[in-house]
Amino acid sequence: MAAACIIVAMVWYGWREATERALYGERGFFRRPDSPPSQHFRTSVHTGPVFAEAVCRLAHDAALTTVVDVGAGGGELLAALHARDPSLDLIGVDLAERPPALPADVGWQHEVPATAGALLVANEWLDNVPVDVVELADDGWRLVLVDPATGAERLGPPPADDDADWLATWWPAEDAGEVGARAEVGRPRDRAWAAAVGRLTDGLAVAIDYAHDRTTRPSAGSLTGYRDGRQVPPVPDGSCDVTSHVALDACAAAGIGAGATATLLTTQRTALTALGVPRDAPPYELSRTDPAGYLRALSRAGEAAELTDPGGLGGFGWLLQARGLRRVPLDAARPPTPPASGAGGG
Ligand SMILES: C[S@@+](CC[C@H](N)C(=O)[O-])C[C@H]1O[C@@H](n2cnc3c(N)ncnc32)[C@H](O)[C@@H]1O
Repeated sequence: MAAACIIVAMVWYGWREATERALYGERGFFRRPDSPPSQHFRTSVHTGPVFAEAVCRLAHDAALTTVVDVGAGGGELLAALHARDPSLDLIGVDLAERPPALPADVGWQHEVPATAGALLVANEWLDNVPVDVVELADDGWRLVLVDPATGAERLGPPPADDDADWLATWWPAEDAGEVGARAEVGRPRDRAWAAAVGRLTDGLAVAIDYAHDRTTRPSAGSLTGYRDGRQVPPVPDGSCDVTSHVALDACAAAGIGAGATATLLTTQRTALTALGVPRDAPPYELSRTDPAGYLRALSRAGEAAELTDPGGLGGFGWLLQARGLRRVPLDAARPPTPPASGAGGG
């Protein structure tokens, strides 16, 4: 019997292009209605109502009546905001189609609208803006090329001038370490963030994400994949999320370039504490006088603990940038946010 020999030619792409196709191409990972983000990973918006309460409070503190959720995914934050304060004008922005369960008066579009008086929130959006990956070779940074079918990699040419400039500013080879160190080139995220900030006439823009800055860049990079709740190797074939941590300090500089008048870079733990998210468990006494209220308060305390865990969501970066305001309205000392009526207690 003659042996059949099939030769499959590998096609090599930079990670940015491969990820763009895998996540946002036709039938891309984030374009499939049967595969919402919540099926694959858990973000702050999936923990319960406490996160939305904090976002609502931030909007009220800044006297903003519109919330634009960029990279809104399954619309969970918008739905929770709507339940908390139906008077807010809510707009979801995502490349994906409108989630069917979203309340009818919540808007949905594919591009960030020009708005005035808005709080723009981008929770785990920027980590999904595709970026190229580079690896340090003897002669400096080289692009990492990937075969989308298998995730196999090889080194390509040096990065283009714009990317080399970004690396020199934000992730210099001398900080990166030894040959074999890797970096993700955050320039497309800076551009995406600057464009979003630029769409605000006045208001506040908040990016929330896994983040690093010049003092904490991961020497091996942070590119990874998620599927069905598990971390998996990042193969850009449309079967998994492909994500990497965000250089939020670089995004902050881009936001300033786009007209931000005040900037605050902090952690989710600090931000949520400032927004009155309770950190203490309810007093045990309450279980005797108001058992149902005690259980609700316990559940809120559990959510708050997950949201502020320094080793998890609490360690995320919050980049807050105002336009037309002289300061970011986030105060450190304040009383806890009261729960929505009937939803909390304690
Ligand atoms: C990790 S999910 C986060 C979803 C949601 N914010 C959450 O916290 O669960 C990232 C979302 O950003 C969306 N996205 C990525 N790039 C986008 C763009 N340029 N414009 C609009 N949405 C985008 C993706 O489609 C995806 O739904």
